[in-house]
Amino acid sequence: MLKLTRACLAFTLTMSVAIGLAGCASKASAEAADPEETFTLGMKNLLPPELFDLKKMEVLPEGLVVTVGEPPDQAIEQPIAFTHTRHVKDLGMDCSYCHSNARKGVHAGVPAENVCMGCHALVDTTDRPELEKLKDYWAKGEAIPWKKVHDLPDYVYFSHKRHVVAGVQCQECHGEVQEMTVNQRVATLKMGWCLDCHAQHPSIDDNYGTKAELRRAELKDCWTCHK
Ligand code: HEC
Ligand code: HEC
Ligand code: HEC
Ligand code: HEC
Ligand code: HEC
Repeated sequence: MLKLTRACLAFTLTMSVAIGLAGCASKASAEAADPEETFTLGMKNLLPPELFDLKKMEVLPEGLVVTVGEPPDQAIEQPIAFTHTRHVKDLGMDCSYCHSNARKGVHAGVPAENVCMGCHALVDTTDRPELEKLKDYWAKGEAIPWKKVHDLPDYVYFSHKRHVVAGVQCQECHGEVQEMTVNQRVATLKMGWCLDCHAQHPSIDDNYGTKAELRRAELKDCWTCHK
């Protein structure tokens, strides 16, 4: 059992990101469905701890070992105190006004300064330091250095378009953004989070009908997210 796990690990590491761990994980877990036991032996020394935090492992019913975790509990301070509440809730703007790419591509994207200035060229900045900052960036032709709230590791493939077109709402993954004065991540972004939703999201039944189970099986394939 120890040998099997080590062999799998060696293979996994050679492949750099774990294509092939599927078989290993399910075989290993058939013998011992305890993540500590399955993974402590080899992985503790082989993988950088930030990749495999042993305290945050969980074994799914089908034997796949995934990472789970908690979303960060601190909001990220941004260079300008922009609020979604004001723009979305009070002014009634649609998400797509500023994140139009979410429906079209991999990235939802953060709006360029000219989108802001379409309105803010006209909004009074007297005694409004945050609005002054916006105008300063614009005058200097500098991009506002927004800090990322969500950031997946590079070895994970995620595309907004596919999710948005399928009918998954922004709020299902990002929380009630329109109520946020400071943007905060509500999802763990761990593998267990993705797989959990893929296993039960009703849009898959709506969009695939009798082929829903087949689609769900495809979505479990390692290659779907690790290309
Ligand atoms: C007026 C333009 C505007 C509108 C409308 C808007 N956003 Fe944003 N959004 C921004 C800006 C600017 C940022 C970067 C600053 C921040 O994170 O607060 C951002 C950041 C985000 C982020 C975090 C990005 C990251 O770094 O991970 C999410 C998620 C998001 N918006 C979702 C939404 C959703 C959902 C809606 C609709 C309910 C929406 N936004 C409407 C401008 C907008
Ligand atoms: C459709 C018009 C419109 C767009 C586009 C827009 N804003 Fe605003 N914004 C407003 C209005 C109106 C206010 C309220 C001004 C007031 O309180 O006097 C405001 C308020 C603000 C404030 C003050 C704090 C707050 O959120 O209430 C900041 C900062 C701000 N906007 C930044 C931005 C940035 C950055 C962008 C581009 C990502 C942007 N705005 C895009 C209309 C807009
Ligand atoms: C199925 C979950 C999901 C849905 C639905 C979703 N997002 Fe995202 N969003 C993510 C993930 C995951 C990331 C991080 C992507 C990365 O780091 O590559 C992200 C990142 C972002 C970002 C940061 C910039 C970027 O593109 O990486 C913004 C802005 C954003 N989302 C806005 C939206 C808006 C607006 C909607 C609805 C139109 C939406 N998202 C729908 C999961 C989702
Ligand atoms: C709230 C539900 C939800 C969450 C969370 C979610 N997804 Fe999805 N995802 C879906 C649905 C629904 C589909 C099926 C879309 C379709 O087949 O039309 C899908 C499909 C996909 C696809 C297939 C796209 C294609 O081109 O075939 C990939 C890749 C994907 N998701 C990656 C991710 C990753 C990575 C995460 C986690 C970071 C994630 N998803 C989180 C609901 C979700
Ligand atoms: C639905 C999308 C999705 C599928 C399918 C998927 N993964 Fe992942 N995987 C992720 C995400 C997201 C992360 C990043 C987790 C993090 O940041 O800690 C990840 C991370 C990993 C890691 C790094 C350790 C960890 O969990 O953080 C390994 C190893 C891995 N995946 C292996 C696999 C194998 C093997 C399969 C097939 C059995 C698979 N993944 C299927 C989304 C997926």
